[in-house]
Amino acid sequence: RLEKIWLSIGISMLALFLVVIGATAFGMGMSPPSEHHHTIDPTQVTSTAPFDNPGLKQTGDNRYEAVMIAYAFGYEPQTLEVPVGATIDFTVTSSDVVHGFEIVGTNVNMMIEPGEVSHISHKFDKPGEYLVLCNEYCGTGHEYMKTTIVVK
Ligand code: CUA
Repeated sequence: RLEKIWLSIGISMLALFLVVIGATAFGMGMSPPSEHHHTIDPTQVTSTAPFDNPGLKQTGDNRYEAVMIAYAFGYEPQTLEVPVGATIDFTVTSSDVVHGFEIVGTNVNMMIEPGEVSHISHKFDKPGEYLVLCNEYCGTGHEYMKTTIVVK
């Protein structure tokens, strides 16, 4: 009799365990709502909004969105001018292979995957010229892949 009770407890535990495992696997299969993942066909990047119109757009009080495309071997737009003290929300994708997006002298450093839309924000407190570099090897022109952000 006691054995039967223990057996049913054991089966219940096992069932509970399987439900938890299943729920976890299911949960991991779904995108977490806090993480915004948005992919586009890399060959369609330049005709897909907002990348069909790269550059700076004012989105609020002292706040701008900078839409940029990384490609072998450069960035679109070629240069970006932003007002000093403004917060810039970068929206970046690649139209070919994996590139980097590092703004020298800041903590901005992202890997840009083809068709994957990456976001990072930075407030430019000091005027000057900021170099944007690719820090992922992307081919023969990798070391020449850069652009400039002019803060003034
Ligand atoms: Cu692009 Cu290295």
